Amino acid sequence: MKCVAALLVAVLVLASVAVERADADVFAALRDCAKNSNLSQDKLQKACNGELPKDEELKNYQCYTKCVQQLVGIMSAEGAVDPVKSAQTLVDEKQRKEMEDIAKQCKFDDMKGATCEKAFAVDQCYSEKNNVMYKNNCNDLMSKTFPA
Ligand SMILES: *[C@@H]1O[C@H](CO)[C@@H](O)[C@H](O)[C@H]1NC(C)=O
Repeated sequence: MKCVAALLVAVLVLASVAVERADADVFAALRDCAKNSNLSQDKLQKACNGELPKDEELKNYQCYTKCVQQLVGIMSAEGAVDPVKSAQTLVDEKQRKEMEDIAKQCKFDDMKGATCEKAFAVDQCYSEKNNVMYKNNCNDLMSKTFPA
């Protein structure tokens, strides 16, 4: 009995570590990718809310979405998009089912290769399918990635 309780505690502790680690990976990815693409926190926050940067910075933003998707494992090296991983990474537990359904409709399998344009299309598709969910999660990730 004691043994089962200890095992249960161990499993719960491991599960919470796994969840935190996944989050930490996302924040690290967002930070690294923001830096590599020369995009300020302000620009990224605006992009969360549908105000995309222009010209050269829009290209940087497209490559930022690819950078993030690849670092967290949403997009493979070949450019395949993983809906389950999208749901696990981008939203909280309660929204996973809906996010996975959306991600399945936003895979853009006809766009070949792991390109910035494809990652951006995926990103914008998520935003269009449920804009409130996108905005809330994007802003939430931003505030946790760049604490005040
Ligand atoms: C970011 O800025 C640095 C320094 O100005 C530059 O060397 C680099 O090419 C820029 N990267 C992008 C993606 O624009």
